[in-house]
Amino acid sequence: MTYKDFDYTITTNGPDETKKLGERLGRLLKEGDIICLHGELGAGKTSFTQGIAKGMDVAKAFITSPTFVIVNEYKGRLALYHIDLYRLNNIAEIEDIGLSEYLKGEAVTVIEWAEKAEGLLSEERLSVYLENSGGDKRSFTFKATGKRYEEIVQGLG
Ligand SMILES: Nc1ncnc2c1ncn2[C@@H]1O[C@H](COP(=O)(O)OP(=O)(O)OP(=O)(O)O)[C@@H](O)[C@H]1O
Ligand SMILES: [Mg+2]
Repeated sequence: MTYKDFDYTITTNGPDETKKLGERLGRLLKEGDIICLHGELGAGKTSFTQGIAKGMDVAKAFITSPTFVIVNEYKGRLALYHIDLYRLNNIAEIEDIGLSEYLKGEAVTVIEWAEKAEGLLSEERLSVYLENSGGDKRSFTFKATGKRYEEIVQGLG
């Protein structure tokens, strides 16, 4: 079966709007959903993830941009794994953290620097491309692969 891709772009003005956008996405998520975040340092991936956590009813105390922690687990309406691959150097290191085990389960998984795991990820996922558009503007392009993710993007739009 083939699915057509589904794209949606939106710009936020400041971290609060980014969190709100993440929150809207978080409310739409179901078990097993995989969200891949792409964007340079400071693009807003962690801020966006904080919003997702809020939308999933994760109680506060969300750790921002953990310096050494690669995987953080949160409990909200569903379990949420927040994985930051920035410090991992190759596919072997990414396999070693057990990425495929996280993805298999019933949790929602959000991955920063997901391009580093290309090859380990299922084709069906929601990819979000963040770009710094100057000042406090950030553009978010959502690209759905697979019916489930098209549904999510439609829900956002
Ligand atoms: N519209 C915006 N959305 C999100 N963050 C913004 C926005 N405008 C300014 N910022 C600032 O940009 C920074 C985003 O940091 P954040 O940690 O979320 O980025 P990141 O993509 O996770 O970076 P890293 O790759 O280092 O993990 C924050 O300092 C935030 O205040
Ligand atoms: Mg980050």
